[in-house]
Amino acid sequence: MGRSAAALLLAAVLGVGCASDAPPTVLDQTTRYGQPMSLPAPDTDGSVPLEQTLGQRRSQREYRERPLPLATVGQLFWAGQGITDAVGRRTSPSAGARYPLELFAVTPTTFIHYLPDGHRIEQRPDDTTLPALADVAFGQSFVSDAPVVLMIAGVQARTEAEYGAVAGDLMNREAGHAAQNILLQATALGLAVVPVGGFDPSDVARLAALPPGHEVLYLIPVGYPR
Ligand SMILES: Cc1cc2nc3c(=O)[nH]c(=O)nc-3n(C[C@H](O)[C@H](O)[C@H](O)COP(=O)(O)O)c2cc1C
Repeated sequence: MGRSAAALLLAAVLGVGCASDAPPTVLDQTTRYGQPMSLPAPDTDGSVPLEQTLGQRRSQREYRERPLPLATVGQLFWAGQGITDAVGRRTSPSAGARYPLELFAVTPTTFIHYLPDGHRIEQRPDDTTLPALADVAFGQSFVSDAPVVLMIAGVQARTEAEYGAVAGDLMNREAGHAAQNILLQATALGLAVVPVGGFDPSDVARLAALPPGHEVLYLIPVGYPR
């Protein structure tokens, strides 16, 4: 098959979205830290206009020490990867509904993994990852100053199973969608937030003890503005 024919075929397949195949993929459980816990239901009816949020979003790197409520962290998770229909599709689009992204949050005391199914989390005690994040982010000290750093990781194999060699490219694009949703949600909540791409992905994965196959794609420090 010629390159342009292959590209057309890929475009057609991506467009299908595999909605009928979504549930087994989407609902595939990835729990690993013990008993999952339900989050408060996300706010799906906010009062800040989208256009105002777009106009106000700005990268902010100074945060108050005050922790974010778990419900707020959950709202940011929901903005990034929350399930929004009966077949399991999410706030962010995904090539072929393969959903390669996993969201985590690092706080001064806890490492949290978002489980989109049922809007739940699982967590483990962790007081060492956040202080060390600045070092693996090339010394960007504000990263460790934030009360919460969201982490977008990708499991390329999920997309590769369907799309082969272009999976990494597709996954990176998806991380951009999820990150922008999180940035806009944080802005609408009056929080300070910044997308950080300057870090060593394997150092971050090792530090956070991510399972094999998880590639760290973005860090998103967030907190109350100072
Ligand atoms: C892919 C990407 C990577 C980025 N990495 C960093 C980073 O490592 N450190 C940082 O302070 N800001 C980072 N930023 C934020 C940019 O510096 C910021 O978006 C830019 O200065 C424009 O400002 P604004 O976001 O306030 O509009 C990154 C932004 C993008 C899109």
